Parts: sequence; C-alpha cells; structure tokens
Amino acid sequence: MSITKEQIIDALSHVEDPDFKKDLVALNMVKDVEVNGNKISFTVVLTTPACPLKEKIQNDCEQAIRDYVSKDAVIKINMTAQVTGRPADKSSMLPGIKNIIAVASGKGGVGKSTVASNLAVALASTGAKVGLADADIFGPSQTLMFGVVKERLFAEERNGKTYMIPLEKFGVKLVSIGFLVEKTQAIVWRGPMASKALTQLLCDTLWGEVDYLLVDLPPGTSDIHLTLASSFPVNGAVVVTTPQEVAMADARKGIDMFRKQGITIPVLGLIENMAYFTPAELPENKYYIFGKGGGVKLAAEMNVPLLGSVPLIQSVCEAGDNGIPVAYDPDIVEGKIFREIAYAMAQQLAISNAKIEDEKLAHANK
Ligand SMILES: Nc1ncnc2c1ncn2[C@@H]1O[C@H](COP(=O)(O)OP(=O)(O)OP(=O)(O)O)[C@@H](O)[C@H]1O
Ligand SMILES: [Mg+2]
Repeated sequence: MSITKEQIIDALSHVEDPDFKKDLVALNMVKDVEVNGNKISFTVVLTTPACPLKEKIQNDCEQAIRDYVSKDAVIKINMTAQVTGRPADKSSMLPGIKNIIAVASGKGGVGKSTVASNLAVALASTGAKVGLADADIFGPSQTLMFGVVKERLFAEERNGKTYMIPLEKFGVKLVSIGFLVEKTQAIVWRGPMASKALTQLLCDTLWGEVDYLLVDLPPGTSDIHLTLASSFPVNGAVVVTTPQEVAMADARKGIDMFRKQGITIPVLGLIENMAYFTPAELPENKYYIFGKGGGVKLAAEMNVPLLGSVPLIQSVCEAGDNGIPVAYDPDIVEGKIFREIAYAMAQQLAISNAKIEDEKLAHANK
C-alpha cells in the first residue's frame, strides 16, 4: 500500500512541541509534505532558528513516521524557522522589527553590554536577522565591543527625512550614540534630551527586516527605560546581575520595573554574570568569589527562568576590549555559554509571544 500525505500529517500530529505543549500540526509547523514511493519529505517551521530543541523535534518526527507510517521510509526533514513576534503593524514606528528585547540590570558594570553583544552575535550566527541598539547614551560601549570605534554611520534620505544606516558587523546591525559623538567627549544629557536621543536612535534608523532587536540599556531605572517601555512595543526583557547581594537587590528592582502597572513587559529571564572565577590555566576550577547560588535563588524568588550563568573569565573581557565578542567564534569554548543563553532567551521569547497570542484569541472569542 502506498504512503499518503494524510498518513504523514496524522503521524506528525503525534509529535508535541515541548515548549508549546501542542502538536506540530495543530501549531501549523508542518509544511510542504511530499511523498514519492517510500521517500518522504516535509518542512518543519520552528519559531526561532536558535531553537535548542531542534534536534529533539527532528528525531521525534522521524520516530513518529517510523511508528505510525512505515519503518522503511526514507525521510528528509527540512528544519527551518520563522521567528514569531508582534503581528506586523504598518502604522508602527518600527514596522520591520519583529521583537524588541531590553537588556537591563539594576546595578552598573555587571556586564549588560558584554551580554548584549554576545547574545546579538550568537543569535545572528543561527541565521536570525539581528539588530543591536546601544541605548546607553550616557556611556555607550558597543562601538568598542564591536571594534568599530572609528567608524561613522552613513545617512540616507527617504521622503525628505534623513535616516541612519546601521553598521553591519558579525551579522548584526548596530547603532550607537557612540557613532555620533567623539569617544573622549563627555555626554551630559538631561532627561528629555536622553529620551529623544533614544527615540531617534530607534526610529531614525533604516533597520530593514529584523527578527530580534536587542536594546542595551544604561544601568538603573532612568528616563531611557521609561521611554523605551512606554513608547515602544517591547516583547521582553532580560536582566543581568552578578551574584553579590548589592547587585541582586538592584536586579530585583530592575525586574519589578518591567512588571509595574502600565508597563508589563515579560521578563524572559535572569542572566547571572561573573557567577564564578575560572583562571585560564585551571579551566576546570571554579571559585565562587561573589557567593554561590545567588542567581538560582533570585530567579526562583522572582519567578523568572535563569537563562544561564557566565563565569568571570579574562578572555571575555579581552574579547570585549578587542572588539570581537567571544560568542562570534564557534571554536571558542567560552562563547558556548553565551550561545546557550541566547538560545534559551529566544525560546522563552517564542513561548511568551505564543502565550500573548493565545490570550488575545481567547479574549476575542469571549
Ligand atoms: N563574564 C565576564 N568575564 C570577564 N570580564 C567581564 C565579564 N562580563 C563583563 N566583563 C567586563 O566587565 C566590564 C563591565 O562590563 P560591561 O561594560 O559589559 O557592563 P555593563 O553592565 O554594560 O556596564 P554599564 O552599567 O557601565 O553599562 C567590562 O570591562 C567587561 O569586559
Ligand atoms: Mg553597558
């Protein structure tokens, strides 16, 4: 008996996406089913190319075909991704951008910019379209971390308005106030000016299509944070902390800020940076100089996922100073930690987007 497309669809309806707790067919993730004798091919469309469950889902699909259709089938699965985000809103200020993600902390110097640069290059390396806006207009550092301190941005006229063209490096589209001022020039912004600078940085840039726009924020809870949260559709925030009590107390405030009434930005997770010290010559050793287990404890207390813990390693600092984030080179082991955090973040974002979509549908059907 020959195999039919219906049999394939039926088999794949037994495969559950572990994140969304629904089957792949119900989630509309199965496309282009083709059958030719015992040769079967189809496409699975994931919600992010950074999906950490890609391999598991692919194996589960193969197993389902063997269990429900034929043991001898020759199976070819094309795993692709279409990043989910806000529904395209042409009237939006940022129409081509699917997801805006704030990278924040309470305390300064805990590693927001290091994390933001590494997450950006890690996501870009999966094939996602990534933008990074350095919104720390008081102390921009992304031009240094991307090794583009001397570069300047080009501008383009569109309908009588001048737009910035982001600088592309390591697959990431970057804009920073650092491009617009001299490195040694002290920047003294008053509140409203700072908010305006952020709005310009985001709205006066020709971003094109972007799956993930990361926004590297200044420390604390400033006018910049309020402007971003109130004027832009931010899909999620990640909060960076070190394990010290002082940093964690500020991280709590940072998380609370996104949950304030009228703001309600989903907190996708906590990232514990400088979690332990690992000397280059003793890579197996971990010294918990700032205390142990702080990230796990805070994540549980605030009811947010701990996306990962990054050790304090010299190479991370050097890579930042040298303008090549560690996550850029797949052969650098330190980069793996950031890549895993990036995938975990993309996963949490996809779950959060799906939940919001479901709630909207439930509300509309009431
Ligand atoms: N895991 C790490 N290992 C080693 N050095 C690190 C690590 N994370 C950050 N650093 C270094 O610590 C310093 C501060 O990091 P970074 O600039 O990323 O912090 P920040 O939170 O963005 O600071 P600010 O609040 O000033 O914006 C930098 O020199 C950076 O290279
Ligand atoms: Mg910073």
